[in-house]
Amino acid sequence: MVNAASILKIVATAAKPWAELYSDSRAVSSAVTFFHLGGLLFAGGLAVASDRATFRALRGNDEDRSRLLVDLGNAHAWVLAGLSVMFASGLLLALSDVKTFGNSPIYWTKMSLVVLLLANGALLQRTERRLRAESLPAHSTSPTHRLWARLRFAAGASMTLWTAIVLAGVILVDSS
Ligand code: HEM
Repeated sequence: MVNAASILKIVATAAKPWAELYSDSRAVSSAVTFFHLGGLLFAGGLAVASDRATFRALRGNDEDRSRLLVDLGNAHAWVLAGLSVMFASGLLLALSDVKTFGNSPIYWTKMSLVVLLLANGALLQRTERRLRAESLPAHSTSPTHRLWARLRFAAGASMTLWTAIVLAGVILVDSS
């Protein structure tokens, strides 16, 4: 019967040549960790800076908010590019020791947080697109007021999730 343990065993066997290269070569392991943290610098750095800009624009005037919507639109591609680098390097990190990471509750907690981060990113992008389409002032009683409140929530959730994932990543290194 196929269960989690047997799937992990199959993946560990397939990943063995990579795991050996990763543990034998300091250059390879450093390069993969560099890409993981480099992706974090760009994706996480830009995402958190955009979240802060959202809070500032919500306290500003209509011009600040329309400029924010343009900036958020431009930031998505960079954040997604950084996240793609993190996913590719993260997968290589996980395949370097399938047995340890596959059985680690910290690893699966981190992956659950990453899924929440992606869902929140989709909510943020959808809300910003609708606001750009409507571009009505923030203080009206129209649904747009609810959209700005949702953008505030998504920005707060983004900051919290990025911080929580970094914490989980660091604990993961110390526990592996
Ligand atoms: C937003 C997404 C992510 C963030 C912010 C993040 C952040 C981090 C951080 C800060 C570390 C510690 C690095 C170190 O101290 O050397 C780390 C380690 C790790 N990450 Fe991620 N990560 C993310 C996504 C992923 C994904 C998608 C995977 C797997 C598919 C992954 C797998 C790992 C593994 C296995 C380690 C431990 C590496 C080791 O023990 O040497 N990460 N991550």
